[in-house]
Amino acid sequence: MENPKKYTVTAALPYANGPLHLGHLAGAYLPSDIYVRYLKLNHRDVVFVCGSDEHGAAITLRAKKEGVSPQEIVDKYHELNKKAFTDFGIDFSIYHRTSAQDHQKMAQEFFLELNEKDTFTKKTTEQYYDEENNQFLADRYISGECPKCQNPNAYGDQCEKCGSDLSPLDLINPKSTISGNKPILKETSHWFLPMERHEEWLTSWIQEGKIHGKQLHNPKEWKNQVTGQVMSWINSGLKPRAMTRDLNWGVKVPLEGADGKVLYVWLDAPIGYISATKKWAEENGKNWEDYWKVNQETGEADTKLVHFIGKDNIVFHAIIFPILLKQHGDYVLPDNVPANEFLNLEGDKLSTSRNWAVWLHEYLEEFPDKVDELRYVLTSIMPENKDSEFTWKDFQDRVNNELVAIFGNFVNRVVVLTNKYYEGVVPTAGELSAEDKVMLEEVKSISDKIGKSVEQYRFREAMGEAMNIARAGNKYLADAEPWKLIKTDPERVKTIMKIALQISANLSIAFAPFMPKKAKQLQVMLGIEKELDWNDLGSFSLLQENEKINKAELLFNKIEDELVTSQLAKLEKSKLDNILETPIKEEITFEDFTKLDIRTGVILEAEKVKKTKKLLRLKVDMGNESRTIVSGIAESYAPEEVIGKQVSVLVNLAPRAIKGIESQGMILMAENNEGKLSFVNPSEDYINAGDGVS
Ligand code: MF3
Ligand code: ZN
Repeated sequence: MENPKKYTVTAALPYANGPLHLGHLAGAYLPSDIYVRYLKLNHRDVVFVCGSDEHGAAITLRAKKEGVSPQEIVDKYHELNKKAFTDFGIDFSIYHRTSAQDHQKMAQEFFLELNEKDTFTKKTTEQYYDEENNQFLADRYISGECPKCQNPNAYGDQCEKCGSDLSPLDLINPKSTISGNKPILKETSHWFLPMERHEEWLTSWIQEGKIHGKQLHNPKEWKNQVTGQVMSWINSGLKPRAMTRDLNWGVKVPLEGADGKVLYVWLDAPIGYISATKKWAEENGKNWEDYWKVNQETGEADTKLVHFIGKDNIVFHAIIFPILLKQHGDYVLPDNVPANEFLNLEGDKLSTSRNWAVWLHEYLEEFPDKVDELRYVLTSIMPENKDSEFTWKDFQDRVNNELVAIFGNFVNRVVVLTNKYYEGVVPTAGELSAEDKVMLEEVKSISDKIGKSVEQYRFREAMGEAMNIARAGNKYLADAEPWKLIKTDPERVKTIMKIALQISANLSIAFAPFMPKKAKQLQVMLGIEKELDWNDLGSFSLLQENEKINKAELLFNKIEDELVTSQLAKLEKSKLDNILETPIKEEITFEDFTKLDIRTGVILEAEKVKKTKKLLRLKVDMGNESRTIVSGIAESYAPEEVIGKQVSVLVNLAPRAIKGIESQGMILMAENNEGKLSFVNPSEDYINAGDGVS
């Protein structure tokens, strides 16, 4: 297929409510940066936009927690995150922010245009309201039990445990996340997007890449999990979604009678891609519309719009934003939404609130010269099609066994020998042997593969191929043994070294999208002054005879065990801090306390609940009666261990069905920092089953 005239590449705008970690980098920013660097090395016309997402509950709740204004929060994290991206070589054309005036203006105009085009329906509905704080409770302002998986801490927009999309009214026992209070219902009006009206064209667009018969993209290029997630949303029936909120932080709704209302953050933020492009265009003498709008004369898209995101953002980029763009008219739709899955860390989900993360700004402080090493490892394990995991041991192994032992070792041998044999001057090659020709062919064919993989968003595979060039180079040298031949056939050695030098030069191009700093360093070491150019990949005239290379410098250093140990210790510490910092719950009154009826019981019987890992079904003697209780202790105790134990039981808890068994009470347990449980039990033998605990 012919290349498009332009590329508009976006990376999800991160919330400016906290620092960035490895998961962010591996999810959206590294893949987009690799893609863009590759395009630029091919002289394509590309704009790469990102910025801070500064509205929404993510920001205001954080501000509340830290006791500062939302503006202070976004100012702090905007700068911190912008710097982290720069330091990691993420080469955005612009890193904008949604609190900027020009963005707010564009978002308002966009909304008004949509409103004119009857995109929304205005509805008055009852919504939860926190009377103490005089605030409506949408999204993360409200939490409760998930109706699908019983997670007690699901939010008003989503359950993070099972991934279900929720609305506040779905929650069981909802409570305000600001006050913990039980909310009341109160009427309010909002602008809704009736998404169900768009099911038909969305289905054809997602499944066939066509709208009204016109081919827009090739759906086979989309990842299965993205298409799958979108279709499952559509198949379960799209519903109207409110596009405005009752909040005082955000882009004001620019209409009469909308006081105290702002745009829904997921309407405002993606428009941030457009406002960022506009700002960049103004500063660089370009026309932003060329990067977003359909060519008015031809009716065709002249730009290829690609959204890099994490999987939790799929619905917004592949359903909601496309609906808005199409409704507005004139805009192009994304050609692809190559969403990544999640990255885990040392066996656990990355979590900002639990401080279970490797923070980019901390990594940079500790290892300022190991930026590309991290880019390399994260690309190697990028969660392109399924969740993957970062461990420090694996980081060490990949750096030591791949970067140091293969890439670094090859280049170092070549540069050292060239300096030793020829004082750094590129030798003149003689006639090529059969092996030489095979080697050259191999580099050419690998080079072609790298580009194809990158264009298909397969970055792991692409970088693996780049590494294969270094592998092939090592093998070539090991077979040719120039260090032995130098005594018997110095003419032949010139040819071998010339080829090895060309392979090194090729490596500096092949790795440029993945490890830009190292690629540059290698280029300097080889004395190449010409700008790197992807079209030169596979070429064998990158270094001319008689040109001079520089002295050898190690491209990579070994990672010592000490680093792994200290990083693991750091994570272990955050696990501990977390436990210590478990906040004390809200104060209760003495009357509240006396409502709990806790009594001593003795476990009579115990057995595992089938098909569960954690649950035991217990029969407990309460003195005057015996009760069945289902308890989540099976990972700490075997059934036979608990028979005869004295325990404290909350006896007036409303009975609940757990796995089809009615549980009549709750056993009190203490939990250590590894999640191991212990009974809270009376220890004197004059206490008997049925005695009260208070
Ligand atoms: N801030 C959102 C998140 O971190 C992403 C916003 S992407 C945009 O999940 F399209 F809305 F900008
Ligand atoms: Zn759930």
